[in-house]
Amino acid sequence: MKHEILEKKIAWMGALIAVVISIGGLVEIAPLYMQSSVVEPSPGIKPYSALALEGRDVYVREGCYNCHSQMVRPLPAETERYGHYSIAGEAVYDHPFQFGSKRTGPDLARVGGRYTDEWHRIHLMNPRDVVPESNMPGFPWLAERTIDPAATQAKMQALQKIGVPYTAQEIADAPEAVRNRSEMEALIAYMQGLKFYGEPKAADGSAKGQQ
Ligand code: HEC
Repeated sequence: MKHEILEKKIAWMGALIAVVISIGGLVEIAPLYMQSSVVEPSPGIKPYSALALEGRDVYVREGCYNCHSQMVRPLPAETERYGHYSIAGEAVYDHPFQFGSKRTGPDLARVGGRYTDEWHRIHLMNPRDVVPESNMPGFPWLAERTIDPAATQAKMQALQKIGVPYTAQEIADAPEAVRNRSEMEALIAYMQGLKFYGEPKAADGSAKGQQ
């Protein structure tokens, strides 16, 4: 039996297993690079404003992603709680994306507009003031620290190089847009923009009315 010979030559078998797995990988992954639903921005989605972009960096620096995902899975328990499931076109301007994998707290992909800015401010100062049973830490220092306007343009230019369509005007206006704004204001601006951008689809991919 040829197969028996192969099973005894473990190096050969290992090599052939690797070949089979890479064919499987290519067949699954390669077409994604060409599918418009995966690589094209969702209709209505815009690059982050200068202030929201700075807020996104605060979110990353403070490690919010260690407790919060931004990825609504297409399961009824999730879509009923958070809203429309996440689609690839929402994340095309996100470098790096904030999908996350740990949910100590709720998913935040649809948190924009759910609360007022003032609610977020109180919650970030001390979460227990609005959610008594919360075990989220407070981030009061964000209210005292201001954004450094010197760095914003460079960040936007770097993103522009990798395909985020910032206009020259947006980049020119960036320092004024963030000057004297606190890190907390920036973080709240970022969170208020976390919404569903796109055309609602039913779970089977067919078009569906507004959710
Ligand atoms: C140690 C884990 C932990 C960290 C770190 C953390 N959170 Fe939370 N967060 C939670 C938990 C638990 C809740 C649910 C209770 C509550 O609302 O406070 C929550 C709730 C929230 C909510 C309300 C969500 C909703 O739908 O009601 C927002 C907004 C939020 N967090 C933002 C942030 C931001 C921004 C950061 C980073 C600055 C952060 N969190 C860091 C654990 C965490």
